[in-house]
Amino acid sequence: LASIEVDVASLEPGMSLTVKWRGKPIFIRNRTPEEVKAAADVALSDLKDPIARNANLPPDAQATGVDRSGGKDKENWIVMIGTCTHLGCVPLGQAGEYNGWFCPCHGSVYDTAGRIRKGPAPQNLAIPTFSFVSDTKIKIG
Ligand code: FES
Repeated sequence: LASIEVDVASLEPGMSLTVKWRGKPIFIRNRTPEEVKAAADVALSDLKDPIARNANLPPDAQATGVDRSGGKDKENWIVMIGTCTHLGCVPLGQAGEYNGWFCPCHGSVYDTAGRIRKGPAPQNLAIPTFSFVSDTKIKIG
């Protein structure tokens, strides 16, 4: 399927789910206000990869908290391709030093915006093309 629609109505803040899209895991997380703030408060100069890697934005968009999220009114939402940018393992959610994602293969640590913070992975987790078709439904692809 070229695109899928995912109902996220049951995802309370702090909850996440993983769906399959084009054979890849897609992580969807409804971040808590604390998680949103933790990501937004990080200076771009502290990031290993300052590029947003967001297919919905220009290729040079920066990896701010909002540009890694569902956007200004949807900053709580994170939608990412769940394959580690090191060698492609699937990171674990709500894990690691930043309570974002942790890749058990070689120890890459991603923050609550899916940005690489420690370990061998070179890039932030990629964000696929997605949009909200309603307040509770996300179209991926
Ligand atoms: Fe994730 Fe190596 S594949 S750290």
